[in-house]
Amino acid sequence: MAERKVELKVFRYKQGQTPHYDTYNVTVDENTTVLVALQDVRRDQDTSLILRHSCHHASCGTCGMRINGQEQLACVVKVLELGTPTVVVEPLQNAPLISDLVVDMAPFYDRYNTPEMPYIRASEFWPKTDLPDGIAQYTRYENCLECGLCVSACPVAGTDSEYLGPAAMAAAARVVAEPRDSDPEFALNWVDNEHGCWRCHVAYECTEVCPSDVNPGEAIMSLRGALTRRKFRRVFGLGK
Ligand code: SF4
Ligand code: SF4
Ligand code: FES
Repeated sequence: MAERKVELKVFRYKQGQTPHYDTYNVTVDENTTVLVALQDVRRDQDTSLILRHSCHHASCGTCGMRINGQEQLACVVKVLELGTPTVVVEPLQNAPLISDLVVDMAPFYDRYNTPEMPYIRASEFWPKTDLPDGIAQYTRYENCLECGLCVSACPVAGTDSEYLGPAAMAAAARVVAEPRDSDPEFALNWVDNEHGCWRCHVAYECTEVCPSDVNPGEAIMSLRGALTRRKFRRVFGLGK
């Protein structure tokens, strides 16, 4: 397998220090991901480099970062496929920076983990599961990895610290579409304000970067539609 030398220009920050970039030369082959290249740097060149990861296969959502300016999961981005002699690696935006490539995800989780609308993880159905009578097919409602890429890419999240954000509103749209034990009216009320679905600029950067086909931009538009229909029903006395 052909090996090549590539430069990694990595954002560095330690508490109390001035942020800067460090550049590392790494040897990669066609299968080397950005995450593996960073781990090689940490193992062979600089043990102080801090990054976060777990699964290595686009499942846990913990390795999100900006690679050449684009939010991505570092574990599935091949270095050579980027096609640049220097690969710039930076932490996600719109989240408090802890160190180097690691941001604090607590505000992201807190945003939509309310008692009234707890965030419920995916229920995945095995494709061979027998379908109950009257059900033509299962719809998988929850693909979100909680990676935060959408929030990092969102220009509104960068200017409004109270903005609910694309992932949270995608979760709310799921509650409206498929409530289970949650209250769809609570979800609609929750997003019906100047920091909710009406604040979105409809630029769909969130959808662009989402690695899991959640399509938060479309989910936000569905919330606007549901709120508009609710308003008409109320104005014309057609119920809730
Ligand atoms: S569509 Fe809305 S939520 Fe998505 S990135 Fe744009 S402003 Fe943010
Ligand atoms: S909506 Fe997509 S980009 Fe946003 S947190 Fe979920 S998986 Fe990540
Ligand atoms: S390490 Fe789990 S998604 Fe990348």
